[in-house]
Amino acid sequence: MLQPFIYFFMEKAVQPVTPLADARDGARKILLDNNRGGYTIPSPRLYPFQWSWDSGFIALGLSYVDKTKAFDEIRSMFKGQWSNGMLPHINFHHVDENYFPGPDVWGTKECPWAPRKVATSGITQPPVFGFILRLMADRMTDDPEFIELLKEIYPSIVHFHRYLYENRDPYDEGLVYIHHNWESGTDNSPLWDEALDTIDVSSARDVSVLRRDLKTVDADQRPTNENYKRYIYLVDLFRSCNYSDKRIFERCPFLVQDVLFNSILIRSNEALIELSSLIGQDDSELRKWNQKSIAALNNKCWDEQTGFYYDFDLVQNKRIPVIVSNGLMPLFAGVCTPQQAEQLKHNLLSSFKNGDYLLCPSCAVDEPSFNPVKYWRGPVWINVNWMLYHGLKRYGLNEEAAIVKQTSINLVEQSGFYEYFDPRPGISNDKRGLGGNCFSWSAALYLDFLFNF
Ligand code: DGY
Repeated sequence: MLQPFIYFFMEKAVQPVTPLADARDGARKILLDNNRGGYTIPSPRLYPFQWSWDSGFIALGLSYVDKTKAFDEIRSMFKGQWSNGMLPHINFHHVDENYFPGPDVWGTKECPWAPRKVATSGITQPPVFGFILRLMADRMTDDPEFIELLKEIYPSIVHFHRYLYENRDPYDEGLVYIHHNWESGTDNSPLWDEALDTIDVSSARDVSVLRRDLKTVDADQRPTNENYKRYIYLVDLFRSCNYSDKRIFERCPFLVQDVLFNSILIRSNEALIELSSLIGQDDSELRKWNQKSIAALNNKCWDEQTGFYYDFDLVQNKRIPVIVSNGLMPLFAGVCTPQQAEQLKHNLLSSFKNGDYLLCPSCAVDEPSFNPVKYWRGPVWINVNWMLYHGLKRYGLNEEAAIVKQTSINLVEQSGFYEYFDPRPGISNDKRGLGGNCFSWSAALYLDFLFNF
């Protein structure tokens, strides 16, 4: 029998605003409007395909709206899985010229592991599906259609995790690396600046005229053209390696063990272990992986002096000393001791809060690279807040969890279902919402915040 994910505590702190009468309906409508038949796009115009970690959060939100659509969402994502187990970060289920880089840039068709029926990108994203299914299981263990989905998808998720451990952990440490900043999901975080700066772009293509994102969102909220040169340099490199991880590892200037990515992997391993008895699966491989990963995350990424977790750059062989919200995610993975959790809480309430900033900025406010309006360099994200909320609750940090949850609810109810939000005090509600609008995971996780407590 699964123990439900229920945390008993009193929630207090940030005052709820008078909810927009139709915010729930608005969230449902966004999920349905962004559904393209079988899958859901993150945001109209800006992201017109199916993205992997978005799709996990969206499926959770859809499970409150239309169960069949939620199950289809997950099945559609796994249609893009490569035969070596890699789950790509984008499935291009249909043609749309409104996005760069599209399938022609990725050129994965020539790759022997890529699926034949759906065009995909050639990199991955955080492995969220284990914990997403685990959360659905809290409400659905008696539902035969859910059990059928679980039986079908569970082995594919394990295959994906096995791909990560076998291809992205060259020193058998238990920590997997990402080889593109887009694989982290936190695309433009200052975490990546130094590694990206090592790229010699003298022969890289200038792709500024090909970009479509700047037609929808202000340039000051998006990555620069110089950033894009480096992003596409890496894609071109992967393509020239025909997506062989071995070749990429030998040649890639960007190899980072990211705390967020590994925390999500650990959380999903744990979820799959918990789900294994429901469908009679052997969980011994998952237990082995997870034990190693938990120890490695604490040994390699934790810094006792500053009380924080840091990413590790495998090319430069050093930690990346930047305080961003990725470093709080071991709370979500449940790998911290109570003392470590207290230290993270201290950082959250000092470096990230800086007086009256809204929790939780994606980059600590006292970091020199902090920028309150730029993509992943300071704004609040609803999915980060959702993981942080669950992490804080896990450690009984209920007051802080309640602040993070109520802040998220207030943000979408007062400013709309944006992609990210300006965290500065004193900003008017109509100016807080940034990036894409009608953003699916903001709608999906808003519903989960309301219904799952
Ligand atoms: C983008 O285009 O900004 C995407 O997040 C990359 O996956």
